[in-house]
Amino acid sequence: MEIVAVIPQEGIMPLRITVIGTGYLGATHAACMAELGFEVLGLDADPKKVEQLSAGILPFHEPGLPELLREHTSSGRLRFTTSYEEAGAWGDVHFIAVGTPQKAGDHAADMTYVDNATLSLARCITKDALIVGKSTVPVGTARRLRELVAQVNPDVSIDLLWNPEFLREGFAVKDTLTPDRLVVGGGTPEAVAVLREVYASALASDTPFIVTDLETAELVKVAANAFLATKISFINAFAEVTEHVGGDIRTLADAIGLDKRIGRRFLNAGVGFGGGCLPKDIRALQARVSELGLDRTMRFLSEVDEINLRRRERVVHLATEILHELDGRKITVLGVAFKPNSDDVRDSPALDVAAQLFNAGADVSIYDPEAMNNARLRFPRLNYAESLDEALDGSHLTILLTEWQEFVQLKPSHLEHLVESKALIDGRNVLDHDEWIESGWHFESLGRRSELVLTEAGSGS
Ligand code: UDX
Repeated sequence: MEIVAVIPQEGIMPLRITVIGTGYLGATHAACMAELGFEVLGLDADPKKVEQLSAGILPFHEPGLPELLREHTSSGRLRFTTSYEEAGAWGDVHFIAVGTPQKAGDHAADMTYVDNATLSLARCITKDALIVGKSTVPVGTARRLRELVAQVNPDVSIDLLWNPEFLREGFAVKDTLTPDRLVVGGGTPEAVAVLREVYASALASDTPFIVTDLETAELVKVAANAFLATKISFINAFAEVTEHVGGDIRTLADAIGLDKRIGRRFLNAGVGFGGGCLPKDIRALQARVSELGLDRTMRFLSEVDEINLRRRERVVHLATEILHELDGRKITVLGVAFKPNSDDVRDSPALDVAAQLFNAGADVSIYDPEAMNNARLRFPRLNYAESLDEALDGSHLTILLTEWQEFVQLKPSHLEHLVESKALIDGRNVLDHDEWIESGWHFESLGRRSELVLTEAGSGS
């Protein structure tokens, strides 16, 4: 899609946009708003992050974003600050993009950041303005915040809307500039018209623009993530069945995915979902509806969560069965990011499996093209190899857990002269089973009957 930049008309000041919180969501939103032609001020409480971003340095991996950041910080169209006074006095439209992580020891979302950011900003707003929430929040948050905003700053007119973000890591720039849909909840017709101006470029390409109330807007986001998580656990539940009775989970997914009502996407069986969104969002949704007295309503999401976590146990179980004992055995883990094209290890299934294997006594060697630093910060005691070959050197078992392209393309001939034992678990169902078996490998994958079972059955007959 063509990106239509805002062309300031003579005598009319273009909108000034602030973005509060400059993590994955906020930094992307800020840089993309600048790309669309707006003057943008990003705010973060962390002075180090503000310093880095101001220098055009992106503190995480996101394809296409470093270029936008560099271009617009150099031109001065995109700036960063730690000052709410500066943001409140300067901006016309303030996007709230801070995190809502899972509370420690609880399934509910921690609302401290959203509450503090919104109210700190509201206190500093000195002219009529819009506050637009983008963070994923428990339903009812926006209405509660709207009342608090009016209380802390009755001097100016501040309208509060919710405009959830659906961006995927790895595609964040594309998803922000050319979204599938835009959802705007709450706000007067005038406020909604301002958001139409902000998103004029996407609207020019007929992107659906859904105007609704605050609650629906909040729920659309969690409903989308709950659906995606359920879809993944659905196919992974069938993977448990095919592991038991035989069958091919990839073919099964292809076949049901051809039904247009179902669709093939998000039916990739494997070690399951992780990241900063899906796991915590399904937990927060359950916690919120229980709080509302609807205890049974989202109970199925506990199953979705459990199926997902069982996939990690399955990999550890397979590794133990293959190696007989883990103590002192070298296991190579390929990939620790929660998905490819990301350096994010939050709730990463791969890193969780690596840590479980390490805790069980294995000598775990890790390689990931981008996520090594983040993984090292979480689990400093694992071995982090400098290269793929170093990670594979002397390995008794190789486990592919994040489907980076360079792993998907691996051939048995590449590994054979490096590893100690030709044993591999494909935790993402991306390698060609027959090719590895024909090359003499002990090859296991999730959703396929284990070779160990087949061998036992064979030897018994
Ligand atoms: C998700 C939503 O897709 C996005 O719309 C929302 O804004 C934020 O949360 P993201 O966390 O970036 O985005 O990752 P996503 O691409 O959805 O993948 C989530 C997890 O599911 C990953 O761990 C991925 O490996 C896993 N997954 C995905 C599967 O296991 N199987 C699949 O078929 C698809």
